[in-house]
Amino acid sequence: IPTEVPAANRTQNRQLPDPSAGSGTQEGYVFQNTPDTDPSLAANRAWADAIRSRMTGSTLGDDTVAANTLSTSEQVSERIATAVASGEAWRALGAAGRAEILHRAGDILEARRADLLEVMGSEAGKIIEQGDPEVSEAIDFAHYYAESAKKLAEVDGAVMQPVGLTVVTPPWNFPVAIPAGSTLSALATGSPVIIKPARQARRSGAVMVEALWEAGVPRDVLQYVQLDGRSLGEQLVSDPAVGRVILTGGYETAELFRGFRADLPLLAETSGKNAIIVTPSADLDLAAKDVAYSAFGHAGQKCSAASLVVLVGSVAKSERFRRQLIDAVRAYEVGMPEDGRNRIGPLISPAEGKLLSALTELHPGQSWMLEPEKLDDAGQLWTPGIRDGVQRGSEFHRVESFGPVLGVMTADSLTEAIDIVNDIDYGLTSGIHSLDVDEVQQWLANIQAGNVYVNRGTTGAIVQRQPFGGWKKAAVGAGSKAGGPNYLVGLAEWTDALVQS
Ligand code: ALA
Repeated sequence: IPTEVPAANRTQNRQLPDPSAGSGTQEGYVFQNTPDTDPSLAANRAWADAIRSRMTGSTLGDDTVAANTLSTSEQVSERIATAVASGEAWRALGAAGRAEILHRAGDILEARRADLLEVMGSEAGKIIEQGDPEVSEAIDFAHYYAESAKKLAEVDGAVMQPVGLTVVTPPWNFPVAIPAGSTLSALATGSPVIIKPARQARRSGAVMVEALWEAGVPRDVLQYVQLDGRSLGEQLVSDPAVGRVILTGGYETAELFRGFRADLPLLAETSGKNAIIVTPSADLDLAAKDVAYSAFGHAGQKCSAASLVVLVGSVAKSERFRRQLIDAVRAYEVGMPEDGRNRIGPLISPAEGKLLSALTELHPGQSWMLEPEKLDDAGQLWTPGIRDGVQRGSEFHRVESFGPVLGVMTADSLTEAIDIVNDIDYGLTSGIHSLDVDEVQQWLANIQAGNVYVNRGTTGAIVQRQPFGGWKKAAVGAGSKAGGPNYLVGLAEWTDALVQS
């Protein structure tokens, strides 16, 4: 009988101090992914219960939002000027000096894990099961980009230089990891940052920024803003002093930004319409579980979510997989994040437009395998829906709906299934469930997507192991992937030292 909790578990007990904290600054540090909270430990379940009990009425981040909400054009200009002026001292710290601060930021984000989960649940409806890996990812970005910038500081005589003021406009669906990743990457290369988190997740972004300030990132170098009025957003993004805009959001927003300024240096991760193919050789139990989680985790509101499943050959013709999928999905309780039984939380706002029609209207030839049900008057809580009979070329095949609806398509062969998936304008994530090596090879060689997953769900990319980024209309101006070895290369400028001998 073991007398001591094994070290690996001890680091995941959120109620005990982590003996390995202070990571990154020790001699011989090697990047490792941060463990998620292990819910099998009773202490962690009690920790999570306490967080849930604080979600209602949480005010975390309020002060930062209130102090940084700008309403005039002069205020925006002033922020841009102070950020630009702060840049030189930040650059002069060097990659190693900045890395020390970024590693500390990772440790403080870990120390504030509970606060981050509370605020994400409170304002963005994120359940703890979904928010916890997101905090781990933010911590990973801090340590990973800190090390990455040190490695890249000088490569073969080429010296990494910051592009200058970087404006970060993250989305509401990953209110901590995406703002953190974009901000930390720019800071690591030596650029100052102005971040404007999405209005629906403004307090989560604020708590993340507070952690970075506490770690030692100067407040002029990292500025938080909310803007009263769309024209201020246009002013911020299009100011000629801005060296880079990092956007994660819809493709239309990227187009809007490009309309503001013709030569806008934009790096954007945009929309997705992602599919998982299931072939007759698949482990169908695993496939059902992965498809269900990929489609309905965070109520389907992830750019990486699976919105289609393409059943091949005998899987398409039989009812077995469909029954397994229905069972897996029915097991998810829907409700507010304050209740620990719920696995699917609310939509960020009441369903409308494209999403409302995806949840309520069938097209010719389609039927509900599971019909979505609205559980509240406002239309934010919906049970998950699965529509069978989605036809190639139909709206549901090609248009992103960003909510808890999955479409089922069928194909006679893997080749046809790949064609169906490639016939979508976006290419962010894609999955296959198959235990046949030849099938997997064929799929890998032909599928058009940035992140491709074999016998795994399509969400939850892990820093360093699964660098994240898309193809086609899923990316604008991007060429390298977040959380990967080349991300900072694309963010920085490079000067070559040419020495005459
Ligand atoms: N990086 C996020 C995921 O992989 C979007 O789900």
